Amino acid sequence: MSDIHQHKILILDFGSQFTQLIARRVREAGVYCEIYACDVDAQRISEFAPRGIILSGGPESVTAATRYPIADIVFELKVPVLGVCYGMQAMASYFGAEVVNADHSEFGYATVRARGHSVLLRDIQDRANDEGHGLLDVWMSHGDRVESVPEGFKLIASTDNAPVAGFADEARKLYALQFHIEVTHTRQGAAIINRFVGEICECNTDWRPAGIAENCISQVREQVGTDSVLLALSGGVDSSVVAAILHRAIGEKLTCVFVDTGLLRHAEGDQVMATFAESLGVNVIRVDAEDEFLQALAGESDPEQKRKVIGGLFIKIFEREARQLDGVRWLAQGTIYPDVIESAGSATGKAHVIKSHHNVGGLPADMQLKLVEPLRELFKDEVRAVGRELGLPATMIDRHPFPGPGLGVRILGEVTKPFAQTLRAADQIFIEELRRHDLYQKVSQAFAVFLPVKSVGVTGDGRRYAHVISLRAVETTDFMTANWAHLPYDFLDLVSRRIINEIEEVSRVVYDISGKPPATIEWE
Ligand code: XMP
Repeated sequence: MSDIHQHKILILDFGSQFTQLIARRVREAGVYCEIYACDVDAQRISEFAPRGIILSGGPESVTAATRYPIADIVFELKVPVLGVCYGMQAMASYFGAEVVNADHSEFGYATVRARGHSVLLRDIQDRANDEGHGLLDVWMSHGDRVESVPEGFKLIASTDNAPVAGFADEARKLYALQFHIEVTHTRQGAAIINRFVGEICECNTDWRPAGIAENCISQVREQVGTDSVLLALSGGVDSSVVAAILHRAIGEKLTCVFVDTGLLRHAEGDQVMATFAESLGVNVIRVDAEDEFLQALAGESDPEQKRKVIGGLFIKIFEREARQLDGVRWLAQGTIYPDVIESAGSATGKAHVIKSHHNVGGLPADMQLKLVEPLRELFKDEVRAVGRELGLPATMIDRHPFPGPGLGVRILGEVTKPFAQTLRAADQIFIEELRRHDLYQKVSQAFAVFLPVKSVGVTGDGRRYAHVISLRAVETTDFMTANWAHLPYDFLDLVSRRIINEIEEVSRVVYDISGKPPATIEWE
């Protein structure tokens, strides 16, 4: 088996909101990469032994380049370097060129003319101008401007506003581009990244789903040896993929605990059991804890208290089950790379905040179990690809995120069994129709919310005084901000009719048209 970590790229983060996108594009090009803060120790950079380095953009003005300068080690390693946006300005400044505040900032689309026949941009173009020069439609976002090409470098790109939109020293394989190559608005961005990591850094492109899956499996085997491992299986993508990896790696030595809180989506518990216990033969202990959860939540209507009650009870039940098992030494968790970046970022106080989706993040340290986290290096799309590779069904892999507290935060106020049943039924209709109309994958997250207010309606047989369901569907890439999805009116009409006709306890359906911010995605 080839070593999929053999050739890797280092991305130095100068604080751009797009840094993770650079990493994802590099991985999509088949090359492993990691993100380090721009001021990380020189020693860590050289120990990482990158085959190339990408300097990200950043919110800083480079006129403040002195604030976050590039460490000498970046160029001392003698590997190819590519600076993007702030990364380019910081490079210009490092090599002695002047960077000034532009008269007008450039945000949005721009047309770049490639110059100088660089290896980086050769034959990569969206179209050509009358003189046959290659043109690229790119996305720019910068306030500063590089005034001149640093000594020893040549011009490789320009725009009307930014005469120096790219420069290179091809002998030393140092490149810089003013525009963002990592966003999809720059149509040739992926081609440029492929060129850099493939041809210029000469990386093997072995970072592919099959290899990643094999690697996760063999690393787990190495880490846990013949010990037994415990996993809290939620049915979400991350814990499901962890289960599939561990099952391949250690088979019988894996035990999953699946807690049915009574706050899951329609048929979720049965689906988890069918996939894992029945099809894959994984040891899964299903704990039917609906009554316990409903009792614990009785009379509680404060959202934060509800979250605490649900989280606390989950841990109590999980621990109770764990105590029944002999010889478990490890606890598996579905931590993914954005969580790792976030914790590193909060440690240094520099990187941006990313929402983490731990399901068992609050487990107490006194469980005395060691942690095994097979997805630590992976982005969400890679987790999904590994899941597919390991044969998990699409319905499990492609499903929208579901919050740890489940329907508990989608039933506003007090949670009761009848409310949960009504909500589950409405949610199922909404999701079923989204899938049927090929809209499920077009939105990032969709669900129904139960509103405990009553409203008057009229149905064929008379007056109906019943509850309200709100439909929520959003489009987002990072779940930090989101737009409400503009679902077709006819579609919403159909879903509304079905819900009111099929569920007696509902007299009215509304559609949530709030963006995030100011609203959050979940209602509680
Ligand atoms: P909000 O409501 O904060 O949600 O806009 C952003 C994303 O996070 C999910 N979410 C959670 N996920 N445990 C989770 O694992 C939680 O307690 C939790 N609360 C919100 C939410 O569904 C959305 O995808």
